[in-house]
Amino acid sequence: MAGKFKIPFGTMAVTEKAKQLIMDALDRKRLSSGKYVRDFEKQFASLVGTKEAVALANGTDADALALAVLYDYGAGRGDEIIVPALSFVATGNAVLQAGFIPVFVDVELDTLNIDPSKIEAAITPKTRAIMPVHLMGKPAEMDTINAIAKKHGLYVIEDAAEAHGAVYKGRNVGILGHMAAYSLYVAHIITTVEGGIVTTDNPDFAEILRSLRSHGRACKCESCVLNTASAHCSKRFQYEDKGDIRFIFERIGFSSKMNEMEAAVGLGALEIYHDILKKRRANLYYLLEEFQRFGSYLTTFRKESYEEIGPHALPVIIKQGAGFTRNEFVGHLEENGIDTRDLFSSMPTQCVGFAFLGYEPGSFPVAEYIGKNGLHIGVHQDLGIEECKYVIHTIREFLNSHH
Ligand SMILES: Cc1ncc(COP(=O)(O)O)c(C=O)c1O
Repeated sequence: MAGKFKIPFGTMAVTEKAKQLIMDALDRKRLSSGKYVRDFEKQFASLVGTKEAVALANGTDADALALAVLYDYGAGRGDEIIVPALSFVATGNAVLQAGFIPVFVDVELDTLNIDPSKIEAAITPKTRAIMPVHLMGKPAEMDTINAIAKKHGLYVIEDAAEAHGAVYKGRNVGILGHMAAYSLYVAHIITTVEGGIVTTDNPDFAEILRSLRSHGRACKCESCVLNTASAHCSKRFQYEDKGDIRFIFERIGFSSKMNEMEAAVGLGALEIYHDILKKRRANLYYLLEEFQRFGSYLTTFRKESYEEIGPHALPVIIKQGAGFTRNEFVGHLEENGIDTRDLFSSMPTQCVGFAFLGYEPGSFPVAEYIGKNGLHIGVHQDLGIEECKYVIHTIREFLNSHH
């Protein structure tokens, strides 16, 4: 079986519909944010089950802009946001980019997600929000997180970058907090190539997000984003008597619009979303099941009966005392055509950019352990059960040769 398959980490689809829409946008010369972006927002919101969705340039901005909404609700620059120590570095970067300070909490080894029992100890008078990450698509423990947030008057913003299609206790991820931030980057379940989107049930949050993505301007109703610069707008000179609404800047903004070609790719992906999700989920659940037999050396997470995991990728953690290193293991997979990625790092103690925050190495033992011993493998829709069997076979071969 060796060498029979290539298992790249990710894939993406540009459907026929997407190609047609791209050509149409090019022909109309309407390439910046316009009606395809609005269509994509509407369809994404209806898929997740929220009233609103606001499309952005990428998932990092989705995190940052969702957080920046809180300035309209009394947050001040330098206030604190609680995030898990283990995530893709974008989560921590986004908090800083939004003007807040990330306060890190260790994760649990068996869920990879923020350890709810450690959150309260991290809350201070400056805390404004908790941003749990549904890492590798596994829903964070939202009931406990929401209860803590309610008790302390905090906002909850889900980092759902990797959690398209995840379900927690009968409710979709994306509707479990005040806002949820998704990445639409190529390797993700729905992609616009580069892109991000925030879902929310609160129309005021959506308005503020539309303002934030366009430099903080006052012009923020949903039709104003349709790039109709030459069209008549009855509000244009009527906004609180202050002049042209398009050039009144009400808040510190970002420049983070999605463009029409990206939205076209996204609209194509939405058409085949259920198919993508089904295939990825079948791959992930098959691998999770098969992985149980490697339990003495390797662990992953498990699917609970009350959840569906958003099938982003298969996480793998090498157990203490396994008798081999991550490099040896990953090297064997690479030699056999199986692409891998590290399972991220402890942002505060393993990513040098965060050193200025002053966290001591050793403060986040679980995140740090995963940072040194974790990896993830693709489960995307271009793979099938045959390829998954090959992954299992290749791992078994490695373990046999090391024991
Ligand atoms: C957990 C998490 N948050 C945020 C992001 C940022 O998304 P993007 O790469 O679209 O900026 C990612 C990216 O993959 C992610 O995995």
